[in-house]
Order: sequence, then structure tokens, then C-alpha cells
Amino acid sequence: MRKTVIAGNWKMHMTCASAKEYMDTFIPLSKEFPSDRHIVVAPPFTAISTLASLLKGTQINISSQNVHWEIDGAFTAEISPPMLLEHNVRYAIVGHSEPRKYFSESDEQINLRARSAQASGLIPIVCVGESIEQRERGEAERVIRRQVEQGLEQTELSNLVIAYEPIWAIGTGKTCEANEANRICGLIRQWVGFPDLLIQYGGSVKPSNIDEIMSKSDIDGVLVGGASLDAKNFARIANYQIK
Ligand code: PGA
Repeated sequence: MRKTVIAGNWKMHMTCASAKEYMDTFIPLSKEFPSDRHIVVAPPFTAISTLASLLKGTQINISSQNVHWEIDGAFTAEISPPMLLEHNVRYAIVGHSEPRKYFSESDEQINLRARSAQASGLIPIVCVGESIEQRERGEAERVIRRQVEQGLEQTELSNLVIAYEPIWAIGTGKTCEANEANRICGLIRQWVGFPDLLIQYGGSVKPSNIDEIMSKSDIDGVLVGGASLDAKNFARIANYQIK
């Protein structure tokens, strides 16, 4: 049985004070979550240490929003695996569409980040997904396949998560239709050829659509942006029900 990973990506939101306030609400709610799901929050770097203390003894894991492939060095603005591991970080998001778009992250760099994360004991969450123009030109599958194949090169498939996030569904309120998201996740699993691969869907996931998304056979979890910023909403998402 594949495990389920429900992750909240806080992006560039939350100070230490607001992260603490959030957890004052979220930690008590998390006690009701079924134990079959892994809950992850990805705060900005500055709130990681605060969360590491607050989350001790809970079932909530911390992810970083990035990780560099070197252990240390002259890489201004980057963060390395040992810096994250020191604060009990377990996951690292790599290849999110925002750094791909704003900082021209390439599939090669994303692959280096994923491999470095794994080599140091972090679990990479490797994001892939097509733009609306690529979808309209009928190129979605080709683009996603290239991102998956290059991003996962020489990685350990049993120790990573893929997040399928169509760019046009991120932060727009337009969720990809659950059957279509499931179809793409199924294709990714087929291309990679590893039945136990963990695949999340991401893009405008919210309390009103989580139950339908999680009922799909090839979707093993979600990567949530906007809706994860509200503790009660994220708790509802983490507490999804399959009818
Ligand atoms: P969203 O973001 O849930 O706000 O659409 C998802 C993501 O960027 O991971």
C-alpha cells in the first residue's frame, strides 16, 4: 500500500509569530487525523527552527521549500542539506513552478537538488507540470514526461514524492478536473515504471475538492498552497474523507 502525503507549502508567507499562532490551532486539530497519512508543512526558512520546537512529539513533519546540491560553499541565498537536517527537516520541495519560472530553474538543477536531498536523508518532493499554453498546444504529456525523466535521473524512486502541479491551476482557483489529474498521475507512474511511486496532485486544492481528489486511484496525496495558510482549512484537507 502506498502511503499518503498531505503537504502544505506556505511559500513566502508566515513570520515566526504567525507560524506559532497557526500551530496553536493546528496541533490540537492534528490529534484527530487518521494515522494512515503523513502531514507535512513547508514554512519559509526563517520559521523552520520555531516549527521544529513546536512540532516535537507531533505527527507533523517539516519540509523545506528548496535545497542546494552542495554541503556548503559560495552559493548566496541557497540552503544546504545539513542546515535543514539540524532542524529536523524531513522533506525538501524541489522544482516548484515558481522557481522554475522566476529563477529559470532547469531540470538538471532540479535533479541535482533531488539527488543531494536523498543522499543526505531528506525526501525530495519533485514538482512537475505544464503551462496553459503547453496544454492548449497538446504538449502537456511530452513536457511532463521530460520533467519527470530528467528530474528523477539517478534518484532512488522509493524515497521521493512527485507532485503533479499544472501551472494553470496554481493559485488560480482553477483545479484540474480530478479524473484528468488522476490520468496524468497514472501516466507518470507508467513512464517511471515503479508501481509504488508516490504522486501528489497540486493546484487550487481546498476543503471543497479534497475528498474527490483523494478518492482517485493514482493520487497519493496533495501539495497545497493558498488553502494551507489557514490552519482550519488545512486541517480539513488533512482530514479528507473517502466515501
Ligand atoms: P495553490 O498552490 O494550492 O495555492 O494553488 C499549490 C502550490 O503552488 O504548490
